[in-house]
Amino acid sequence: MKRLLVLLVLMLLTPFLMGSATASICTDCHRGITPEIVEDFKSGVMGENIDCSDCHGFAHSSADTVDKVTMPTHETCGKCHATQDSQYMDGKHSLAWTAMFAMPTTADQPKELMDGQKGCGGCHKIGARDGTDWDEYHYGATGCDSCHTRHSFSVEEARRPEACMTCHQGFDHAQWEMYSTSKHGSIYLTEGDGWDWSAPLSDAKASYTSPTCQMCHMSGGDHNVITSWGFLGVRVEEPIEEWADDRATVLKSFGVLDADGNPTARFDLISPAKLARLTMDDWNAPREEMIAVCGDCHSEKFARISLEEGDRMLREADRVYAESVEIVAALHRDGILPEPDYIDELPSYPYPDVLRFYDQSHTIETDLWVMWMKYRMRCFQSAFHTNADQEQWYGWGPLKETAVAIKSEDRSLRAEAELAEATMATGTKETTGTTGTTGTAGTAEDEADAANAPGFGAMFSFASILALFVLLRRKG
Ligand code: HEC
Ligand code: HEC
Ligand code: HEC
Ligand code: HEC
Ligand code: HEC
Ligand code: HEC
Ligand code: HEC
Ligand code: HEC
Repeated sequence: MKRLLVLLVLMLLTPFLMGSATASICTDCHRGITPEIVEDFKSGVMGENIDCSDCHGFAHSSADTVDKVTMPTHETCGKCHATQDSQYMDGKHSLAWTAMFAMPTTADQPKELMDGQKGCGGCHKIGARDGTDWDEYHYGATGCDSCHTRHSFSVEEARRPEACMTCHQGFDHAQWEMYSTSKHGSIYLTEGDGWDWSAPLSDAKASYTSPTCQMCHMSGGDHNVITSWGFLGVRVEEPIEEWADDRATVLKSFGVLDADGNPTARFDLISPAKLARLTMDDWNAPREEMIAVCGDCHSEKFARISLEEGDRMLREADRVYAESVEIVAALHRDGILPEPDYIDELPSYPYPDVLRFYDQSHTIETDLWVMWMKYRMRCFQSAFHTNADQEQWYGWGPLKETAVAIKSEDRSLRAEAELAEATMATGTKETTGTTGTTGTAGTAEDEADAANAPGFGAMFSFASILALFVLLRRKG
């Protein structure tokens, strides 16, 4: 009883015992349960100032109450770090769950990839979430610990570019690969160990000889991370007329504009999820901030020209991509590709929806998706991250290669369709006498009738062999 009382008093006092966290009942027991976590926490500045319970609460304080524990959210951190929290909330990182759940096929993916953080959710957990809306998957609602890894929560770690690489890598956003093998990155890898990592970013230029991700994207320690183009590489206002047409096609492939160019329901997501800058003023503000960063080391003219080249690479990529989108849309329009069974979910039909990612109805659409998500991305992202290899051989080159593949596939599909139609017409004529159909081939009923008629099988296999022969010759 007495021990319980002492425990109670201690529990009540702990919040007031900042600075003397040694008295914590949490650490006392957890030294035996999770010793590395306690050690890690104690190695950081916060270990000297606050207690486990500041983030995990008091509801659990014994082995029997483990499932009552609370996991922190960004708001928990925000109670003591209001500035960083509100900057984070203004920027893109806080919207990462929102953007992920806004994708049309997110609900169809295994939950483990999402809330379970084994796929999309493993990176998008940098977003803000209140942590009460799911039970089964109980972790991953903090956001802030993406760069300040628990439990040391080090600021120096967060200043190193490696803090960004777990997410900004790979298929569709290879910024780590681009940066680390660029001139900027190679200088960091060669000289970085000698730089002063304890200095705030506002003093970085005193010791850095080359920029880091943070120097360019979190200038002065600002947690409001946002760029002009963003991931999708579009803006709502498009002052360049020759670009606007291709842009409309790009937006149709995102399901943001319908086939006639009118905004769809998805258009309304752009603003709350900050998927694109709405006006040229919104677009220019981060651009000018970026040029000011470059200006610490380069001439303004050099920086401006370099970034404008990035804009132009995006425009070139849009030209090639838009042409391929129109080819695929025409295949649907002409009825050559079958209507997908999810047609009701396509806001811009006959335009395909690349935001469905890999869940497409035909390989030509998958090609288009890869073209957008992998190659178009690299065309502009590499230009901004000054990586010539990624730009040429992982961006523009494969973009053009895929455009060729889509054109060939288009020809084959159309040839196949023509042959099928010719076959059907002959097949129907052949069977007119016995079945009494009118001879106008085309309806599903006719096809079924024709298929049941005697002699059709032989006729069809002959036609298939002929079709195959013609196709092979065309491909060769
Ligand atoms: C008497 C021992 C004891 C005390 C005191 C104790 N814990 Fe625990 N804690 C445990 C045990 C046992 C587990 C479960 C470990 C496991 O699953 O391997 C646990 C688990 C946890 C977890 C992880 C829960 C999860 O869902 O993964 C957190 C966080 C935690 N404790 C925080 C605290 C905090 C904060 C305090 C102080 C308010 C505290 N603990 C006090 C024994 C204790
Ligand atoms: C109860 C208040 C409190 C809470 C809650 C809190 N912190 Fe802190 N934090 C502090 C204090 C106090 C310091 C030390 C401040 C100082 O030295 O200026 C600190 C320092 C830091 C630092 C600087 C570390 C360094 O290496 O200099 C980071 C980063 C940080 N906190 C992140 C977080 C994150 C992320 C969360 C939420 C998961 C969080 N904090 C929750 C009080 C808190
Ligand atoms: C390896 C980490 C990672 C995985 C896995 C991942 N993403 Fe992302 N995602 C990112 C990063 C990083 C960005 C920002 C990239 C950029 O701006 O260039 C991003 C951007 C996005 C965006 C664009 C947000 C915007 O505002 O422009 C959407 C939407 C998105 N991801 C959805 C998904 C979905 C859905 C999945 C799973 C099918 C997924 N992501 C898997 C890291 C990841
Ligand atoms: C500044 C906030 C903060 C403090 C203080 C803190 N933690 Fe945590 N802890 C976190 C975050 C963030 C997570 C990850 C939560 C998630 O993914 O939902 C976490 C997760 C955990 C987990 C489960 C994950 C794992 O790796 O097993 C345990 C156990 C844990 N903390 C124990 C402790 C103990 C013990 C202390 C004190 C020595 C402590 N924490 C102090 C923020 C904190
Ligand atoms: C020399 C400054 C600089 C460095 C270093 C840098 N970036 Fe960038 N980053 C840019 C510029 C410029 C843009 C394009 C801004 C715009 O849209 O106008 C950009 C764009 C981005 C974008 C949006 C999509 C894209 O790629 O165009 C992400 C995400 C990003 N950077 C992440 C990173 C990460 C992660 C690192 C480190 C591995 C990094 N950046 C290093 C300058 C830099
Ligand atoms: C994208 C990575 C990233 C995320 C996410 C992030 N931080 Fe930071 N944080 C940094 C960097 C980089 C610095 C160093 C800033 C500087 O040197 O001026 C920093 C610095 C800090 C500091 C120390 C400020 C100081 O003046 O010493 C605190 C406190 C902090 N962050 C809290 C948070 C909180 C709270 C969140 C979530 C709301 C968060 N951070 C999310 C990268 C991040
Ligand atoms: C845990 C994964 C993760 C980490 C770590 C991470 N990011 Fe991100 N980042 C994302 C995701 C996901 C998005 C897309 C969020 C959205 O737009 O909804 C994103 C978006 C961005 C953007 C915005 C692009 C735009 O749309 O304007 C920039 C710039 C960026 N991150 C830079 C960084 C930098 C710099 C670091 C390291 C200091 C970093 N990120 C660390 C996952 C991460
Ligand atoms: C902290 C200093 C620093 C900052 C900030 C910086 N750079 Fe650099 N940059 C360098 C150094 C050093 C080199 C290598 C020497 C040179 O080419 O001037 C370099 C090289 C380059 C190159 C040539 C790359 C090559 O492969 O030869 C380009 C292009 C470039 N920077 C663009 C930019 C842009 C655009 C920005 C802003 C978004 C920027 N830099 C910000 C230091 C910086």
